[in-house]
Amino acid sequence: MHRIAVIPGDGIGLEVVREALATLELFVNNDTDLTMEWDVFDWGSEYYLEHGKMMPENSLEVLKSFDAILFGAIGDARVPDDVTIWELIMPIRKEFQQYINYRPAKHLKGIQSPIQNNKDIDFVIIRENAEGEYSNMGGHLYKNTKQEVAVQNTVMTREGCEKVARYAFNYARENNYKLVTSATKSNAIVHTMKLWDHCLMNVSESYPDVAFHSVYIDALAASMVQHPEKFGVVVASNLFGDILSDLGSAVVGGLGVSPSANINPEGAYPSMFEPVHGSAPDIAGKGIANPIAQIWSLALLFDHLGYSKQAGLILSSIESTVRDQVVTPDLGGNNSTEEVGNAIRGRVAAALQGGKI
Ligand code: NAI
Ligand code: MG
Repeated sequence: MHRIAVIPGDGIGLEVVREALATLELFVNNDTDLTMEWDVFDWGSEYYLEHGKMMPENSLEVLKSFDAILFGAIGDARVPDDVTIWELIMPIRKEFQQYINYRPAKHLKGIQSPIQNNKDIDFVIIRENAEGEYSNMGGHLYKNTKQEVAVQNTVMTREGCEKVARYAFNYARENNYKLVTSATKSNAIVHTMKLWDHCLMNVSESYPDVAFHSVYIDALAASMVQHPEKFGVVVASNLFGDILSDLGSAVVGGLGVSPSANINPEGAYPSMFEPVHGSAPDIAGKGIANPIAQIWSLALLFDHLGYSKQAGLILSSIESTVRDQVVTPDLGGNNSTEEVGNAIRGRVAAALQGGKI
């Protein structure tokens, strides 16, 4: 029996997690191969406004006993964004050593991509998720004076860089991607990025069957727009990977269809699965948020726990729903969050009942 912790969070997080949970429930009720139970935690901005913190003191202890975490999104105008991020998402990512952030950018047929070259776009961004530019080290002094100064340090370690490099190359090898591209900027950031380059190069030598390119991040960003079909696995530091993954999702149709996984590869702690998007206050409460990124994140969770057939069924059901143009307004349609969720579940249910899994 696998146990899942579910944190819907704020805004559209609540709306899209509802659809993912209904999908999970469908599997639990109809697929005897999948045994899962889940607990839902109401942590987030409402919780903060009531209790003065985003989650209870012992929450990491509580989460640790679960096999995986399904996360929605957080962010609320009544709470500063750095509080929501640093008191909820970051402690989970860091304390649980989820040092791999995995973000696929796969173009689904039926979705209008802004890149119209009719070539298959299917690449994966592996982002370092525990150190680098988001190490939260530095200081800010003499605020609101002429002498005001702020320092933000980037911390990179050989171990951290090599671990993400090995993960990227292993992933490429196991999933038949022929090329690993590293995002660098060692011409300007000469200390940390040179260490990054050095580690990537070292690790690449153990993978003669996978081609390796190191590309400056600025040129890489342009190339991702001009020739996205050329990429296989893109490996990047925390900040670069964060930025590139929004670009990656834009070239395949937007944030509404971009899932992600925060992975602790050793399995010492639970990994966390969440859409790339935030709480989308501009559309929250309207029932039009695209649930695909969240439901796809559930598929990544399934895959991680060994339910790869079920993950595949979710993805093919998403693809067929999109092909049939049952889509929310962000993809040019006029269906609601629930209608898209129902359409995906209808396809999953038909396959399960037909024994097609
Ligand atoms: P956002 O991702 O929430 O929204 C950006 C744009 O994409 C908006 O126009 C939104 O309507 C649209 N969008 C996002 N997800 C969508 C979906 N599923 N369906 C249809 N349209 C969708 O990013 P934004 O506006 O920068 O941030 C809003 C709040 O979310 C902030 O408080 C921010 O801190 C937080 N945030 C939280 C994240 C998380 O929980 N991991 C990640 C990014 C932002
Ligand atoms: Mg981001």
